[in-house]
Amino acid sequence: DGSLRAAARGSGVHIGTAVDMAALAADAPYKAAVAREFDTVTPENVMKWEVVEPQPGVYDWAAADQLVDFARRNGQLVRGHTLVWHSQNPAWLTEANYTPAQLRALLKKHIFDEVGHFKGRVWAWDVANEVFNEDGTLRDTIWLRALGPDYIADAFRWAHQADPKTLLFLNDYNNEGVNAKSDAYYALTKKLRAAGVPVQGYGMQGHLALQYNLPGDVLENVRRFDRLGVKTAFTEVDVRMQLPSDTAKVQAQAEGFGLLLRACLIAKNCVSYTVWGFTDKYSWVPGVFEGEGSATPFDENLQPKPAYDTLRETFLLV
Ligand code: G3I
Repeated sequence: DGSLRAAARGSGVHIGTAVDMAALAADAPYKAAVAREFDTVTPENVMKWEVVEPQPGVYDWAAADQLVDFARRNGQLVRGHTLVWHSQNPAWLTEANYTPAQLRALLKKHIFDEVGHFKGRVWAWDVANEVFNEDGTLRDTIWLRALGPDYIADAFRWAHQADPKTLLFLNDYNNEGVNAKSDAYYALTKKLRAAGVPVQGYGMQGHLALQYNLPGDVLENVRRFDRLGVKTAFTEVDVRMQLPSDTAKVQAQAEGFGLLLRACLIAKNCVSYTVWGFTDKYSWVPGVFEGEGSATPFDENLQPKPAYDTLRETFLLV
């Protein structure tokens, strides 16, 4: 068995992918590869608030349940994504003028309903997603504006009450290396844990781009979270490039994937490494960054790229 999943076995680090539910339903080779190559899955979109509660009080768990069932059949863990975010909230929530008290009640209900629905079936939750700006100040969101900074602690407390066994993560991008944003996470994690708030993990999405520097100090960052006693995870790794791709870029990309995996394997408490889509056939990148793409370890024909070999070989070193 030459799969990534087999290579990761015994390493202490789970290997995951974001799953596009439309592709899982329509594309048999895609589906087979999700089952073969990964031992954890994250729904790319279908656990987000706008999907699970399209109208107030009207839930639609169908797609998310399908993924959770798929994972169970294939012996995979599920990372839940995501409970409190500024994006992909339902229009009924963001476009009405709720009072702060109403928003607090809605957020609490959302977290209890969603975490409760998946109780015992979701291994880890991205509770709070992307709460900081690059300079380490809190991001201006409907939650911050209405509820103040305590919404973060409240979200973790509610999630923990709804499912005391699932692991609860903070999660963001551009927080892999040591910088103002990761400093803010370090301070927040320390403060929440000192106050007894159930935060168990620090998620680094890992959306890298070849035209910027790779986070050379990622290991230093991961290690300081180790010392805080929280788990860490790379939750959405991809390495995009300006198209067209060429041999040098594809090699540099493999180094980016490898850099984050090495940090995870060396760190004490890094529990999983998830790619945000494993094939260029369905990656979110070209739709968002004009002229960029080729960001994942498999090409559009589901053929492995050098990044795939680097991930496998890196797992096999430990
Ligand atoms: O489902 C609708 C479809 O019915 C409609 O016809 C179509 C028209 O635009 O849109 C579809 O929804 C899209 C959805 O993906 C499902 O494909 C949304 O427009 C699109 O905005 C959405 O993008 C997702 C994005 O989050 C939204 O912020 C990406 O797939 C998803 O990969 C991306 O994931 C985020 C993580 O959650 C958090 N970290 C960053 C990461 C990348 O942006």
